[in-house]
Amino acid sequence: MTTPLTSYRAQRLTGDVRIPGDKSVSHRALMLAAMAVGETRIHGLLEAEDVVATADAMAALGASVARDGSGAWRIGGCGVGGLREPDQVLDMGNSGTGARLLMGILATHPFTSFMTGDASLCKRPMRRVTDPLEGFGATFRTRSQGRLPLAILGTGDALPVDFRSPVASAQVKSAVLLAGLNAPGITRVTEEKPTRDHTELMLRHFGAQVSVEETPGGGRTICLHGQPELSACEIVVPGDVSSAAFPLVAAVITEGSSVTIRNVGLNPLRDGLLKTLREMGARIGISNRRTDAGEPVGDLDVAASELVGVDVPPERAPSMIDEYPILAVAAACAQGTTRLHGLAELRIKESDRLGGMADGLAACGVNAEIDGDSLIIRGDGSPPVGGATIPVDMDHRIAMAFLVMGMAAKDRIGVDDASPIATSFPEFIDLMNGLGARVSHEKEPQ
Ligand code: S3P
Repeated sequence: MTTPLTSYRAQRLTGDVRIPGDKSVSHRALMLAAMAVGETRIHGLLEAEDVVATADAMAALGASVARDGSGAWRIGGCGVGGLREPDQVLDMGNSGTGARLLMGILATHPFTSFMTGDASLCKRPMRRVTDPLEGFGATFRTRSQGRLPLAILGTGDALPVDFRSPVASAQVKSAVLLAGLNAPGITRVTEEKPTRDHTELMLRHFGAQVSVEETPGGGRTICLHGQPELSACEIVVPGDVSSAAFPLVAAVITEGSSVTIRNVGLNPLRDGLLKTLREMGARIGISNRRTDAGEPVGDLDVAASELVGVDVPPERAPSMIDEYPILAVAAACAQGTTRLHGLAELRIKESDRLGGMADGLAACGVNAEIDGDSLIIRGDGSPPVGGATIPVDMDHRIAMAFLVMGMAAKDRIGVDDASPIATSFPEFIDLMNGLGARVSHEKEPQ
């Protein structure tokens, strides 16, 4: 069922909010806990559709999965290599991370499993993981062009792999490392551009031996010693910086705003948006810095700011890969030209985000064009015109980005379907309206 939703211009946003758990960390916590010995307690787990799909999959594979209360989960693990053949097809919903990481785990378990997802996930490329995973001895039977639904014929006799990733993708890196867990010897992954390292940090947190070497040219080689005993532990999931990005930009672009966003993960491999917004002139302070389960965390104090256009280099893309839709909204409100480079990967996210943003911005009266893998946005420092309804094409971040733009635009901005927001940030509408936004199913609210 589709749920159209409209965002009307807000007066100003004020308040103090807490951001739900990080999606990347939540998936990994559930997966590693299911392969540990003993009972892991997770606090602050993101309870959104993508993560629930992973929790269901780990239960179907034999882990015991129990929810004690909001964000508090207990997972009884089966040990490395101890998962069992699932009775049913594993449905990973909308989640590329859930699907690709789990394919890694299942590649080195000696049984056959079947995986599917929603219409968006079934369009996305999977060869980027099936190719390296076949190096362990697994076999995949996929639909044309390597797409889901697919069958995973796992191996019980895995060989470790030495893999150089041709794409800057934490999902690809993580799929190979997770397959390496049940292979004897050392699995190595080299990435030319460092991507988010939640898998490496969490593997260590569970007791695996993981070493990381810098390679000439700024890359990294990650070495994992296979077949460790993972020990159950306690995990506090930090708030998701990719979700915080929406109230953050909303406060920056909505006149008179002043918002505190608490419990935000500040992993340096995820901080590209904060860096870029500050370069654009955004007033963002960070306080109360601390570390939870190996991840840096802090609170953000944000005030409405006058922004200027900047050039964002392609090297920064891995550290803000999910934040381009909302950054494009900030750029549309800035004075001058913003050039976002190196966006090829955006074409194969939950939707074609490069095309979707360019079209949506143009529909809202913003001067935006695609040039190769770059998105160029020209603003004059005044609020975008708005007055359009944007097709979100099953993409939660496109939906949230345009609803945020509606908070500052002259005229309303609608989305044709807000239901995908539940895949990552079910609290989004209430949280934003609590700050003073006017996001509504109704005609203009008072
Ligand atoms: C993720 C990695 C990124 C990101 C996704 C989450 C992860 O994908 O877009 O939302 O948790 O590893 P890629 O690694 O494929 O760029």
